[in-house]
Amino acid sequence: MKSLGYFFLRTIIHHDWELKQAHLRHYGISVIFKKSDKELIKPQSLLIRFENSCFKIHYFLVILQKFYKIQFMLSINNLSVQFGKRILFDEVNTVFTHGNVYGVIGANGAGKSTFLKIISGDMDPTSGNIHLEPGKRMSVLNQNHNMFDEHTVLETVMMGNKVLYKVKTEMDALYLDYSDENADRIGELQVQFEEMNGWNADSDAASMLSNLGITEDNHYTLMGDLEGKIKVRVLLAQALFGNPDLLIMDEPTNDLDFETIAWLENFLANYENTVIVVSHDRHFLDAVCTHISDIDFSKINHYSGNYTFWYESSQLAAKQRAQQNKKAEEKKQELEEFIRRFSANVAKSKQATSRKKMISKLNISEIKPSSRRYPAIIFDQEREAGDQILNVQNLSASVDGDVLFKGVDLNMAKGDKIVLFSKDSRATTAFYEILNGNQTPDSGTYDWGVTTNQAYLPGDNHSFFESDYSLVDWLRQWVKTEEERDEVNIRSFLGKMIFSGEEALKTCRVLSGGEKVRCMLSRMMMERANVLMLDEPTNHLDLESITAFNNSLKNYKGSVIFTTHDHEFAQTVGNRVVELTPKGAIDRYMTFDEYLDNEGVQELRTRMYS
Ligand SMILES: Nc1ncnc2c1ncn2[C@@H]1O[C@H](COP(=O)(O)OP(=O)(O)OP(=O)(O)O)[C@@H](O)[C@H]1O
Ligand SMILES: [Mg+2]
Repeated sequence: MKSLGYFFLRTIIHHDWELKQAHLRHYGISVIFKKSDKELIKPQSLLIRFENSCFKIHYFLVILQKFYKIQFMLSINNLSVQFGKRILFDEVNTVFTHGNVYGVIGANGAGKSTFLKIISGDMDPTSGNIHLEPGKRMSVLNQNHNMFDEHTVLETVMMGNKVLYKVKTEMDALYLDYSDENADRIGELQVQFEEMNGWNADSDAASMLSNLGITEDNHYTLMGDLEGKIKVRVLLAQALFGNPDLLIMDEPTNDLDFETIAWLENFLANYENTVIVVSHDRHFLDAVCTHISDIDFSKINHYSGNYTFWYESSQLAAKQRAQQNKKAEEKKQELEEFIRRFSANVAKSKQATSRKKMISKLNISEIKPSSRRYPAIIFDQEREAGDQILNVQNLSASVDGDVLFKGVDLNMAKGDKIVLFSKDSRATTAFYEILNGNQTPDSGTYDWGVTTNQAYLPGDNHSFFESDYSLVDWLRQWVKTEEERDEVNIRSFLGKMIFSGEEALKTCRVLSGGEKVRCMLSRMMMERANVLMLDEPTNHLDLESITAFNNSLKNYKGSVIFTTHDHEFAQTVGNRVVELTPKGAIDRYMTFDEYLDNEGVQELRTRMYS
């Protein structure tokens, strides 16, 4: 309980309430609120009451709001969430304040998506409550990119303001069926519509789209006909429509190409309202966050600064804890030196926006060693393949008239680890789907070597999890021998992938994004294949799983063909790059960095996509 109070206070102290000094000690806490240089408020009396019990923290929060008129964008009060015996959140008390970008991090299955569902009202907690500042509007970036395929772009954006859209749809329908009976209702709706400035909604939506780089000729196109990266921008326009005070996003960079991620990073770094974003993408978190909110040990703790700062300082804290006999003063100096160095680097950064400069107010505090664990990802081959792995000839594919790739020839040699790359992610996905017999090419053939057996990790795995199987029964679908069917054997397999005890008995439907990928990896490991195909394997995975996966592929003796937006993964695993373009393939035996830096290749790329 001690640490709860401590963390909570630290959270408060690191926001901008003209609070200039804070000295915190367990039990001996004293805090000075400085309203102006002349006026000092010393709420010691508050702090004496604040004895680290959850109830009193809540009380403290109320006092701050009522008497000091401190407004929180979002306050979380005594939040608990439990599924069966599993406690995801245990009496969480915290606040999110104006203008910050909070990067929510935590292991796969820690409860990040659940937390976002609770704050956006899609799910009720077991106990506790969420309080959004009165008069403020919250908006959620939709994760399902295909949900609005039947609607036009402009309509999709307007749907972002749910109440307005509902009034407008009802009004339009009644106009079409005009009668004396429904005239009154139309009148009522018109008043509501006007109050919400509805007559300007069309032009507001159109100008928002144009600001996000979507030209007018696309405004009446159906969402289903748009290319993936344009769709994401429309969904973002939807989330931003009506200028929400709080924007919520769950893993927005999944399925995005490098260019669109860079665009989103830039957009968020300059966005002025509050953002709460879940992500496992280190680069993205560093580019956009002013705070890191770590979900661990069933609590949420905020840290000022970006991901790198959180990561480095948590490593340092863990190291210092390991050397317990080190003198307190020495430790303090080491921490201060660390903060000084880090702040200097951030300030020097070329693209330091005003937001990023806030990082100069860094804090380092009691970071517990993380409870995150590394899964044991090990790919074995049942037998080694012969020399002939895969021969592709003149392969072409298109979607709705767009050529994805054309006339691709590829001869994959034993031991090749190919980074399959394209500016259009639909091209690489179509290539894998064709090689796995799930899609027919427009032209061409492919032949797998007779000694090969392949395992495939598709980018979209949702169809695998639409049953009520327990994890044990789910994995049992793919066993090869009677011995493997045995529950003890399957459980030990699941245990290595960090589903132990009761966890192995939950139904596969409720799994988190990363847990689903861990299950898909278990399935692949059981195949004992000598060729692996991986379409965006790091999507959804936490850093520990990515590291374990990355290492296992480096050591794998078979052949691999994979697509990833994780730069390090591509660079450290691949020995060959094959890029699919509408005018054929570019094929080079080199590392990913060499490929991107090679001038000849760059010229060729420009021509091949033009
Ligand atoms: N209805 C449910 N019954 C039982 N367990 C559930 C239920 N819903 C979610 N869970 C479990 O709660 C945990 C948290 O899920 P959540 O999706 O919030 O994780 P997450 O932090 O978003 O993980 P990821 O990084 O993989 O997306 C998971 O272990 C999940 O299996
Ligand atoms: Mg999630």
